[in-house]
Amino acid sequence: MKLFFGVVVFVSALFAEPIDEFVKSLEQEVQKKQSSFQGFSVQRGEQIFTTEHIGKKGKKISCVSCHTSDFTQKGEHFFTGKAIEPLSRKTNPEAMTDVRNVQKWLRRNFKDVYNRLGTPKEQGDVLVYMLSKAR
Ligand code: HEC
Repeated sequence: MKLFFGVVVFVSALFAEPIDEFVKSLEQEVQKKQSSFQGFSVQRGEQIFTTEHIGKKGKKISCVSCHTSDFTQKGEHFFTGKAIEPLSRKTNPEAMTDVRNVQKWLRRNFKDVYNRLGTPKEQGDVLVYMLSKAR
């Protein structure tokens, strides 16, 4: 059993995706400041993703305003109307795979919706929510 467990840990470490490594690094960052931290939460992430807020342009928006709540569908940019690729790998195999791209858009999109950057905890929460729907 011990050996089996060891093999599973080894194999999953071998196949951990870069995006999972990124989530892990955020987790370590939060833990440094908050030793009681219990890990990221899909529920908190969903709230961050779906809650409306007066955004950058003075309009009430949420992440859903551009991405929709169905991750398998294309989104539509709230301000420009441009199509946005789906966030689910079921319809977009590249979704949520490129860490740099994810970081870039988290930065921009938190500002769009919340007028500020997301904290490491908020970023981790929203990422575990998005990843739970992306794969
Ligand atoms: C004003 C429109 C808009 C809003 C609001 C918005 N996004 Fe985005 N988001 C985009 C666009 C455009 C892209 C780039 C998509 C593309 O390349 O087709 C993107 C991409 C992303 C990506 C990268 C996806 C990937 O597959 O790499 C993440 C992560 C993301 N957004 C998170 C969020 C979060 C979290 C929120 C809410 C805080 C949010 N977005 C709100 C427009 C928006």
